[in-house]
Amino acid sequence: MLTSTELRQKYLDFFKSKNHAIIGSASVIPENDPTVLFTTAGMHPLVPYLLGQKHPSGNRLADVQKCIRTGDIDEVGDMSHFTFFEMLGNWSLGDYFKEDSIKWSFEFLTDKKWLGLDIAKLAVTVFEGDENAPRDEFSAGVWKKAGMPKNRIAYLPKKNNWWGPAGQTGPCGPDTEIFYWRGKTEFPPEDSNPKTDEDNWLEIWNNVFMEYNKTDKGTFEPLVQKNVDTGMGMERTIAVINGLTDTYQIDTMWPLIQKIEEISGREYIENAEITKAMRVIADHLRTATMIMGDDRGIAPSNVDQGYIVRRLIRRAVRYGKIIGLKENFCSIISQKVIEILGEVYPELIRNKEFILTEMAREESKFRNTIEQGIKEFEKLVDGFRQAFEKTGKLVNQISGKQAFKLYDTYGFPLEMTLEMAIEKGLTVDVNDFDIAFKKHQELSRVGAEQKFKGGLADNSEISTKYHTATHLLHTSLRKVLGDHVAQRGSNINAERMRFDFSHPEKMTDEQKKEVEDLVNGAIAKNYPVSFEEMTVEEAKKKGAIGLFEDKYGALVKVYTVGDDKDFFSKEICGGPHVENTGTLGKFKIVKEEAVSSGVRRIKAILE
Ligand code: SER
Repeated sequence: MLTSTELRQKYLDFFKSKNHAIIGSASVIPENDPTVLFTTAGMHPLVPYLLGQKHPSGNRLADVQKCIRTGDIDEVGDMSHFTFFEMLGNWSLGDYFKEDSIKWSFEFLTDKKWLGLDIAKLAVTVFEGDENAPRDEFSAGVWKKAGMPKNRIAYLPKKNNWWGPAGQTGPCGPDTEIFYWRGKTEFPPEDSNPKTDEDNWLEIWNNVFMEYNKTDKGTFEPLVQKNVDTGMGMERTIAVINGLTDTYQIDTMWPLIQKIEEISGREYIENAEITKAMRVIADHLRTATMIMGDDRGIAPSNVDQGYIVRRLIRRAVRYGKIIGLKENFCSIISQKVIEILGEVYPELIRNKEFILTEMAREESKFRNTIEQGIKEFEKLVDGFRQAFEKTGKLVNQISGKQAFKLYDTYGFPLEMTLEMAIEKGLTVDVNDFDIAFKKHQELSRVGAEQKFKGGLADNSEISTKYHTATHLLHTSLRKVLGDHVAQRGSNINAERMRFDFSHPEKMTDEQKKEVEDLVNGAIAKNYPVSFEEMTVEEAKKKGAIGLFEDKYGALVKVYTVGDDKDFFSKEICGGPHVENTGTLGKFKIVKEEAVSSGVRRIKAILE
């Protein structure tokens, strides 16, 4: 049995032996990127470096990245869909390309010293070529030379063998994908490959050869540097290598299922409905825990990432009803997630109290209203039936107003109303709901959905200014309120900046004025902004603030505003920043409000 701990370790050790620097997982909340809610792939936090910026740890990197994809949330409950997953990756930033990448993948997978997988159970696909890029004979040739049998190499179109960009524009290119046999027979038939026999092969690793930049005109231009971006999905790889068809049986998930069995007294294999409910609960609470446990700690709320956390927890509670869970249980499962993944992601341990408190608070809040909400929903359905019996007229749509009442008064996320409606053969007037919702909320769910589809933030001039202003604000808040102030989140768009930070109470008008004056004072001084690369330990010693998320001793960038010794602000950060603070304009706080207990939010503008 290959364990998750072994796979992570072997992977990182292997690439270390090939001179890669091991970097820590970036946050699941993208830094200063307003167009996406979550980090969806290992390449996402590395985009600036794929585009040519120098990475402080060098041009060969390897990591295990926390990823979240909620686009498939409705599919969760089958054997393989997860909303959170870990992705192993190795990176060449303009260094090695196809040849080494393929050779090393083959060595890692098949050499007895590493995974020692049977070549007979492996197959690969390569890009078949089109008008944007040629047929990838080169990669196929390297595979053959490495030892991959010819009949296990298939050519596929862009739909399959092309990756990226992560948003609308950005780095992308052809890829070669590696598959493991999961058919019923021990070994694949002679002529089987992922093209002829799609269902029996599972993709475990994707090596992307990023050589193009997709522009906003939809054209593909050669990138300044050729990169390699590979991604190996941890969970599915562990499952398939261990011969498990049900991914929930892997070592990072199964203890969650066991805990759910224990507290509900039901059995996972009892029937399909119970199995599905347990999977949804395990998946959703794991993801909610990972989002809340990130150092940019997010609490359940009605906007952005907080809304997703809320939706995940509420959905888990609803599925809990199916297996008879009437008391609060979410923090019990969350605790188990922290036990399983805390060693790999120590931020979970640091933020344990926050996670468990917020989880329990959200669950209690929801439980208080859910019973009434379900009654209200049933009353609605009953009303439709009675109307039909009386008038013979069939109404099978819940109006936007009705759905909004369920949301507003009873805390039903729209998706839950939709799901319950489907169970009763009804529809919901979603457009009408959106109108009611938009009137009521700062950000509609539709807006949030669009963010998933959106591209990465551009580093336009104004974003860069706001980015530097964020550092000035962070330091000023600590000067005025105290050293307990730490960044909990940040979001920038062309109109404003938003900064979340830990602080127990509302700021007074005087405090806000003092902070504004400090920031504007720093702007007036026209301080130079510079950066240096160093280890996290050195950064701490020099008095830098910021997220100390890198635990492997890799180098980080530290931005200083002012003189190196006599600085206004020093913070770990990837950049970019302006060169002098004098260009920022006038800083103004437009709002200060609570986000969750102990976390405040400031919205500010540069005029
Ligand atoms: N970016 C590619 C993926 O997510 C490889 O890492 O599959």
